[in-house]
Amino acid sequence: MIEILGVHKSFGSLEVLRGVSLEVAAGEVVVVLGPSGSGKSTLLRTINHLEKVDRGFITIDGRLIGYRKRGGKLHELKEREILKQRKDIGFVFQNFNLFPHLTALENVAEAADLASARQFLDRVGLGDRAGSYPRQLSGGQQQRVAIARALATQPKVVLFDEPTSALDPELVGEVLDVLRDLARSGTTMVVVTHEIGFAREVADRIVFMDQGVIVEQGTPAEVLDNPAHDRTRAFLSKVL
Ligand SMILES: Nc1ncnc2c1ncn2[C@@H]1O[C@H](COP(=O)(O)OP(=O)(O)O)[C@@H](O)[C@H]1O
Ligand SMILES: [Mg+2]
Repeated sequence: MIEILGVHKSFGSLEVLRGVSLEVAAGEVVVVLGPSGSGKSTLLRTINHLEKVDRGFITIDGRLIGYRKRGGKLHELKEREILKQRKDIGFVFQNFNLFPHLTALENVAEAADLASARQFLDRVGLGDRAGSYPRQLSGGQQQRVAIARALATQPKVVLFDEPTSALDPELVGEVLDVLRDLARSGTTMVVVTHEIGFAREVADRIVFMDQGVIVEQGTPAEVLDNPAHDRTRAFLSKVL
């Protein structure tokens, strides 16, 4: 469903992604681990063309993201076409990114009609908070609204960038419950998180990144219990 091939990305002289390749199958749940600054957010952002890649390419369900191939050359898509592609790619940010002046229902309805917005709010357990504004909701509830909004375009894949990192500890569980539910229902997901327990339980595959490359990947048992690389061991010893 997702194919990332040989992606490079620099900011000025800083090369943040140094040749990343990753395939994610339909229905697969991939958790990305790695230290701060290793390029995890940048990788997610290239998937929906929030960042342009310098080299390599990305396809979702066989379609090239951000570009069209014509006469053997790549041409960047127009903004309107990029926005259309993004409907296939749900994105959940660390800081929710809800509109403060819109209710929960209106935030979700930004991405869908009212009837389906209600359905998606129900799906994250917030059907009874449709009329609440973000400031009237806890962080965990706000993030669940953000997840409902990400689902509302019926995307082919959903990307999560540290969805629980901004939450008080007692609110992490309710958001992970929603993610677990999505994973069980066959959603194709890439989740950047430091929640190792969640990764162990829910991930089909764990990818460990450091300094702009994928250092290793495998099942949770392989990567968490028997890492092949020193860098992975060093990272795990800090977060486990
Ligand atoms: N827009 C940007 N401009 C300049 N540097 C950036 C930008 N975005 C990210 N970086 C840098 O790229 C590196 C990787 O960042 P990021 O992908 O956010 O890592 P992670 O999510 O793994 O913590 C960091 O050194 C960060 O400061
Ligand atoms: Mg990040």
